[in-house]
Amino acid sequence: MPSVLPEGDPAPEDGALPLSALEGAEDRRFCVYVHVPYCRVRCGYCDFNTYTASELGETRQADYAGQVQRELSFGAGVLRNAGLPKRPVSTVFFGGGTPTLLPARDLTVMLDHIHGEWGLVDGAEVTTEANPDSVDEDYLNSIAEAGFTRVSFGMQSAVPHVLRTLDRTHSPERIPLVTRWARKAGLQVSVDLIYGTPGRASPIGSVRSTPHSQPSRTIFLPTR
Ligand SMILES: C[S@@+](CC[C@H](N)C(=O)[O-])C[C@H]1O[C@@H](n2cnc3c(N)ncnc32)[C@H](O)[C@@H]1O
Ligand code: SF4
Repeated sequence: MPSVLPEGDPAPEDGALPLSALEGAEDRRFCVYVHVPYCRVRCGYCDFNTYTASELGETRQADYAGQVQRELSFGAGVLRNAGLPKRPVSTVFFGGGTPTLLPARDLTVMLDHIHGEWGLVDGAEVTTEANPDSVDEDYLNSIAEAGFTRVSFGMQSAVPHVLRTLDRTHSPERIPLVTRWARKAGLQVSVDLIYGTPGRASPIGSVRSTPHSQPSRTIFLPTR
């Protein structure tokens, strides 16, 4: 199950922003993050807010894109009511969870909604996180056509027993395959590597293997 909520003030019903958030807001870049809290399997180390199918109860994954669209419109209203001028979005990031567990069509309608509410600046970076075994070539082509510019794969390690310790469902061989498909679709690619896994002193072997996948970015995360 997901971790407990952090301490802090609950968000007000009307979504009103605290004054501290409004100060200098017009001078900052405007970026949108969409959380998609679904995973096929929960990895033991993960601290993110995610749910597997058996934890969902009455909630339907198929309704999620519609709920996000309503939330985006609500957010646009909050910014309007705060008196902030409408600004185009600089970066969009779909994180999770596993956003790519949703059909490519769902990611497309959510991104279209962001376009409709605010528009995107020229050259805006539009990213989704993806588990290596949650996408195929058609899927990557579809999201690239929809306007995504980058995919961030949770590689974690190139070592089979480390992947098993981490409860990962993909094999190391999947990484060069998905990164090749993504690049062919015209997407930028980054991979996450995790270090500090019990039984594995150094991520150096995995680091050495990443050039085969030619990511444009490699991100290192400690296991907590
Ligand atoms: C939120 S996950 C989403 C990506 C996708 N679901 C996957 O796992 O392939 C993004 C990255 O966060 C990292 N991560 C997850 N739990 C973490 C933790 N407890 N500490 C540090 N990094 C973590 C993993 O490296 C993962 O690739
Ligand atoms: S698949 Fe990704 S988001 Fe889901 S539990 Fe594993 S690390 Fe966390």
